[in-house]
Amino acid sequence: PWDGPLSGRHVLVTAGPTWEPIDPVRYIANRSSGKQGFAIAAAAARAGARVTLVTGPVHLPTPPCVDRVDVETAEQMADAVKRALPADVGVMVAAVADWRPANTATEKLKKRGSAPPALMLTENPDILATLGSRPDRPPLLIGFAAETNDVVRYAREKRKRKGADWIIANDVSGDVMGGDNNAVHIVRGNDVISLPEMPKEEVARLLVERFADAFSTD
Ligand code: C5P
Repeated sequence: PWDGPLSGRHVLVTAGPTWEPIDPVRYIANRSSGKQGFAIAAAAARAGARVTLVTGPVHLPTPPCVDRVDVETAEQMADAVKRALPADVGVMVAAVADWRPANTATEKLKKRGSAPPALMLTENPDILATLGSRPDRPPLLIGFAAETNDVVRYAREKRKRKGADWIIANDVSGDVMGGDNNAVHIVRGNDVISLPEMPKEEVARLLVERFADAFSTD
């Protein structure tokens, strides 16, 4: 690792979408590119942290000095996150699928005559909320809230509900998911810091600076 303000700290980041299999050839996913999570992992490593990046399927190179764990499903991501503990900072950036097919077919589903098959869904584990209530909860736990409206209000609710310290709220009604820029609000209790739109790398750098500040004022 490099030397920097986060030297000696372990930063655990989740990124990307998850893929929830319907059958051997089909899955449910979302438009997350992984760019924001990868940028945060890269910035944390540059700040001297040991970084574990647990990522769903994305087309991105592993940032220098980052330990990458590739997973597909939410359940695999939850397991990989638990195995990576303890961490000083948990940054849950992944767009984890809320639901997965209740049953994954072992053989490819066939078009049979008239009715298309009904897809039964079941809820995935909430990785952020689970971390938020564990005894080995990272002392600084950060979630993301991608919403298309009322982003700060939903972020405040999410912060309480999931036991996070900060929620980074962003409006995904434009082309944020998959795009290169992001405009975020850092929601910490009643205190909200709104940053203008900027490249995801720059958002990452500013957030990582604030992680370091959070430890230096302990
Ligand atoms: O509830 P919602 O999906 O909007 O919450 C988003 C935040 O929760 C993100 O930080 C995301 O990584 C995390 N999350 C999670 N596991 C889930 C769903 C969301 O860690 N199953």
